[in-house]
Amino acid sequence: MLVESKKVEEMNYFELLAWLGIGSSHPGGFRATQQNLDYMQVKSEEYVLDAGCGSGLTACHLAKTIGCKIIGVDINPQMIEKACLRAEKEGVSHLVEFRLADVNNLPFADNHFDLVIAESILVFLDKVKVYQEFYRVLKPEGRVADLEMVLLAELPANLRMQMEACFGSGTNPLPVEEWLNALTQAGFQDVVIKNPQRMKNNGNVILNELKKDWVLIKGLTEKAANFPGLITRLQKNAGFMKRNRGYFGFGLICGRKPTPPPSPEKVGFKDWVLQVLHWK
Ligand SMILES: C[S@@+](CC[C@H](N)C(=O)[O-])C[C@H]1O[C@@H](n2cnc3c(N)ncnc32)[C@H](O)[C@@H]1O
Repeated sequence: MLVESKKVEEMNYFELLAWLGIGSSHPGGFRATQQNLDYMQVKSEEYVLDAGCGSGLTACHLAKTIGCKIIGVDINPQMIEKACLRAEKEGVSHLVEFRLADVNNLPFADNHFDLVIAESILVFLDKVKVYQEFYRVLKPEGRVADLEMVLLAELPANLRMQMEACFGSGTNPLPVEEWLNALTQAGFQDVVIKNPQRMKNNGNVILNELKKDWVLIKGLTEKAANFPGLITRLQKNAGFMKRNRGYFGFGLICGRKPTPPPSPEKVGFKDWVLQVLHWK
């Protein structure tokens, strides 16, 4: 069934986001993206992957402000369509490319990117598996920076059910230590959380971001009028986060792919074996 012909109530969370074309559907919204980019200090010569790029707001912003080359991938065709439109309208199509792809199985060679960024996608997926895929496509010394929702206290079973009803089954924010462990398990070093924050009492990111983004504003009034379930659905998600915000925070989970050990000819066979044993 075409997403357009589905009722709002029947759309899963990703279909809803894609149908709206929302640009910053992650905790903290675009403000958090800007804080994180300030920390990351992306360079113009770096080649960047935005994994789960949605409608491409962050990727296009990076291309416009830094001038780096960037590829955004998303599993939802409607998101990719909107991201391409955004890149064209914002005049950055020569720097940004958007492709339909699954982050579990990225269509890129090993050691390809300098930086992988992700914003609120691993919370829905198998963390170690996807981080291992990021590790594979990153060059040695390449960085990963992933903005994710963090659990601040154990979530009672009834609230977990409500959370999954809002954001999809399998939605699983982790405590900070577990996020960092997942990145370490995938082989990353220098693993830290940056810009940790508590969820603010500003309702739903979706509702807030809706007001700002041109991709959304276009057609939104029409959508709200023609799809009476839309506002109720958005309010349901906003209400859940507002009532239970004490359980949630967010932050940038960062790590670096280590440098491989030098070849045996350079260091001598015995030292090489020792280095390989200690290298991940
Ligand atoms: C909460 S949205 C965040 C989008 C964007 N990063 C942002 O911050 O606005 C999650 C995105 O991940 C995409 N996604 C979910 N599973 C994916 C997968 N396995 N591979 C690629 N993208 C995926 C969804 O289609 C959606 O666009």
